[in-house]
Amino acid sequence: MSAETGIENISTILVIGAGTMGRQIAMTAALAGFATIIQDISADGLAAARTELEGWAASRVAKGKLEQATATAALEALGYSTDLDSVATKADFIIEAATERLDIKTQIFEKLGVLAPAHAILATNSSTLGSSKVAEATGRPAQVCNMHFFNPALVMKCVEVVRHETTSDATVETTMELARRLGKEPVLINREVPGFIANRLMGAIQREALFLAESGIASIEDIDTTARTALGHPMGPFALMDLVGLDVIDFIAQATHAETGAVEDAPNERIAALVAEGKLGRKSGAGFYDYKG
Ligand SMILES: NC(=O)c1ccc[n+]([C@@H]2O[C@H](COP(=O)([O-])OP(=O)(O)OC[C@H]3O[C@@H](n4cnc5c(N)ncnc54)[C@H](O)[C@@H]3O)[C@@H](O)[C@H]2O)c1
Repeated sequence: MSAETGIENISTILVIGAGTMGRQIAMTAALAGFATIIQDISADGLAAARTELEGWAASRVAKGKLEQATATAALEALGYSTDLDSVATKADFIIEAATERLDIKTQIFEKLGVLAPAHAILATNSSTLGSSKVAEATGRPAQVCNMHFFNPALVMKCVEVVRHETTSDATVETTMELARRLGKEPVLINREVPGFIANRLMGAIQREALFLAESGIASIEDIDTTARTALGHPMGPFALMDLVGLDVIDFIAQATHAETGAVEDAPNERIAALVAEGKLGRKSGAGFYDYKG
C-alpha cells in the first residue's frame, strides 16, 4: 500500500534545482497559489533565479499581462533554500529539476525517501532518465514518476506524466491533477520509453529533415519553410535545433542511443561535427544558421 496524498492535501511544493527549468516550474506553482520552495546547492544559482523571476514578474505587470497583486502574492509564496534537509520535511509534492546526471538524482531521491513526509509524491522533471532509475532509492517507488515540463515552463502547456512499472494509480492521478492546477495540459505515458512523446515526435521530424538535407534533396532553408508553411509549425526543424542547442540535441541522441541501441537513434554526424566546431546554435552565434550578422 502506498500512502500518497490526494490533490486536496497538497499545499507546499518543493522544486529541487533553480536552473533553466526549476525556477520557472517554481514560479508556475507559486502563481497557481501553492507555497513553493526552490532548493539548490548553489546560493548563486538561487540568487540568479530570484532576480530573473522578479524581473519576469515586473515585465509581465508592465505589459498588463499580470495583475500586480497576483505577481506580489506569487513572489511572496516563493521560498529559497540551499538546505535540502530542512525543506524536504515540509513538502507535499516534490519536483526534482537538478542537473541531468543519474548519480546526482539518485543521491537526491535517496535523501527524499528519508526526509520527505510519508504522503509526499516524488517526481522528476528529467527528459532522459525514467523515474524507475531512482524509484527504488526512495523506499516508496509507488510514489515516484516523471513530471516532464517543457522549456520555457512558464509558457509551455504540455506536461508529460510518465509512470514506471510500479507507480500507483493514485500517484498518476494526483500528478495529472496537479499539472492541471498549474494551468497545464498533462498527457500520460503508460510505460517508460526514451524521449517520451514530444521528443520522439521531434526526433522523427529531425531525422527526416537531416536525411532530406544530407541527400541534397532540399536546402535546410526550404525544409524549414515547408514545416512552417505546409505543416503550420511555428519554426522549422533546423531553426528549432539551433534554438534548443546542438549540444543538447547531441546529448539527447547519445543518451537515447545508449539505452535503445537502435540505428535510427544514433547521434547525427553532421550535428556532432558542428558541436566539435563550437557551433552550438543560437547561443554560440552559429549552428545550422549564422546568427552573427
Ligand atoms: N533545459 C531544458 O530544456 C529541459 C526541458 C525539460 C526537462 N529538462 C530537465 O530538467 C532538469 C534540469 O535541467 P535544466 O536545463 O534546468 O538544468 P540547469 O543546468 O539549468 O540547472 C540545474 C540546476 O541544478 C542544480 N543542482 C545540481 N546538483 C544539485 C543538487 N544535488 N541539489 C540541488 N540542486 C542541484 C544546479 O546548481 C543548477 O542550478 C534535467 O533533468 C533536464 O533533463 C530540461
